[in-house]
Formats: sequence, C-alpha cells, structure tokens
Amino acid sequence: MMSTNTNESACTTVGLLEDRYVLGELLGAGSMGQVYSAHDTVLGIDVAVKMLYPELVGSRRHVERFAQEARVAARMLSRNVVKVLGLAVTSEGAPCIVYERLEGETLGERIVRDGGISLSDTLEVVRQMSHALARAHTIGVIHRDVKPDNIFLTRDAEGRMLVKLLDFGIAEVEGTNGSYAHCQLAGTPEYMAPEILLATHESDRAGDLYALAVTVFECLTGQCPFPGPVDDIVAALRAGTRAPFTEHRPDLHGAIDSWMDRALHQDPFWRFTTVKELRDAFEAAMPAASATAAQKQAPATLCAAA
Ligand SMILES: Nc1ncnc2c1ncn2[C@@H]1O[C@H](COP(=O)(O)OP(=O)(O)OP(=O)(O)O)[C@@H](O)[C@H]1O
Ligand SMILES: [Mg+2]
Repeated sequence: MMSTNTNESACTTVGLLEDRYVLGELLGAGSMGQVYSAHDTVLGIDVAVKMLYPELVGSRRHVERFAQEARVAARMLSRNVVKVLGLAVTSEGAPCIVYERLEGETLGERIVRDGGISLSDTLEVVRQMSHALARAHTIGVIHRDVKPDNIFLTRDAEGRMLVKLLDFGIAEVEGTNGSYAHCQLAGTPEYMAPEILLATHESDRAGDLYALAVTVFECLTGQCPFPGPVDDIVAALRAGTRAPFTEHRPDLHGAIDSWMDRALHQDPFWRFTTVKELRDAFEAAMPAASATAAQKQAPATLCAAA
C-alpha cells in the first residue's frame, strides 16, 4: 500500500507502488500530477514515477490524456526523449507512468541558476531537440509544450551532454485525416506562437518550432522575447514589434539576429517550415556567431563552459 498526499508537504512521501516501486522524493509537480523518484526492486534500477493526482482519477478526460502521454512517449524511441519503462496503478486507482530516471536538471533550472547557457551548449540543445521533434513530427505527434522546464539536461555514459524532451502531457496525435483532435488544455503563453495564442490558427508543427526558438532566445539571454503575464504577451504580439536580438546580446553576430527574426516571425509563412531547416540555419550561423562572441567580451554567466 502506498500513501499519497497531493499537497506541498508531499515532498517526503514514501511508499510502495504495486509491491515493486519504492517511492522516494518528489521531483516535480504540474497540472495533472506529480513526479517521484523511485527504485524498481525488480529490475534494481532507479526510475521516475509520474502519477495522476488522485482527485483527477474520476475525470475521463484527464485519465485519457494521461494514457495518451504514456502511449505517445513510448512511441518516440529517441535517445532525446525520456524513455517509458512501464505503467502502474496506485492503491487509490491513480494511473502512473514509469520513466527512466534522469540525473541532472531541467534546462529551465539551469537558466534560472546561471542566467543562460553558452552558445555551444545552446547549439547542442537545438541539435538534440531537433532530433526529438523531427521524430515526433514524423510519427504525427506535436508536443505543444516545448519549453526549458520540459527539457532535461543529463550526461551520456561517456559524459557528453545529453538533452531529453519530457512531458507529452498535452501532445496531440495526427488523426488518419491529417488533422489533430485539439484538447482544451493549452500550452504555456510565453512559448506559444502568435497565431496560436491569438487564436487565428490551431496548434500544429509550426507551434513546436516557434517554442524551440523562444527556448533558444531564453538560453542566450535568460529571458523570453515576450515575458508574461499573458495580457502583456498578447499586447506585445498585437503591437508586432520586438527589439533586435543583438540588443540583448551585442557580443553576438548579426547572423543570430537574422535567424531569430525568421524563427520568431509573427507570420508562420515566413518562419522555418521544418525543424531540420531551423537547426541547419542555426548551425550555419554558428561560425560567425562564435567568432564574434570570442572577439567581444561576453557576459561571463552566459558564456561559461558547461
Ligand atoms: N524521468 C525523469 N527523471 C528525473 N526527473 C524528472 C523526470 N521526469 C520528470 N522529472 C522532473 O519532474 C518535473 C515535472 O515533470 P513533467 O514535466 O513530466 O510533468 P509536469 O510538468 O508536472 O506535467 P503536467 O503539466 O503534465 O502535469 C520535470 O520538470 C523534472 O524536474
Ligand atoms: Mg512539465
């Protein structure tokens, strides 16, 4: 039997799930559930268990969403997406997804701590997230919540930076007719493409690309191009103006400015159309950007090696 407590003090909840997973500390909590560290006593490995809040167990919509998160994440089969290891159910009937346990921190935590990340690490984030999103888009999945809090920074067996996409909680799956059955749960306003936030279009792949571009902006400056609250973001998007990126990072070359202008264009028609195109253009801007950054004195917090 496991005990579950959904209030803040649940950080120390410890219990046994399905006589197999020994639950440890709370790693994170969101709108649908909580994530605990756990030990799988059968396989003898550490895992992470994402558990739907018990009070949502009666909601068919939430239970179905949660099941879809597991199914979608399991189909990703990418080293840049957190791996699903199995499913479980608590004694109160709350469904759980058992994920591989990642060691490290989210990109969001890293940005808050260091004020941003280096240009070379940002390139690595773009490269690895482009693999994850290309795979998702190839199998007809849009993530809809790409942001630093859903990107995990860990290391591979050789100690190299490994970037993993988390949280397919509001992902959409393409139907056989090529359209998406949109759920009401929205993304995070700061990362939502203008046409989605201003409700002129429904979310599609272009929304994931825009969110990745906002993430890159945040990696390099420590802030989003249009910070919240949502009314401020909507007003800024309606005004349609944004200061050139190099006003935030005068040490970087204008090639990054051009990339940012295209990736964050208000009109999806002018943006990159595939994640590969977005990544290739970012890589192409790198030599000029790195050379300029090396010449000019960059803020130490943003350029410290990882
Ligand atoms: N496999 C994992 N290993 C280690 N930590 C994890 C893992 N999965 C999630 N976490 C931690 O838990 C946090 C929340 O996870 P996740 O983003 O999947 O859920 P959520 O945002 O709470 O979801 P939702 O909004 O759907 O309720 C992450 O930001 C991360 O810190
Ligand atoms: Mg999340």
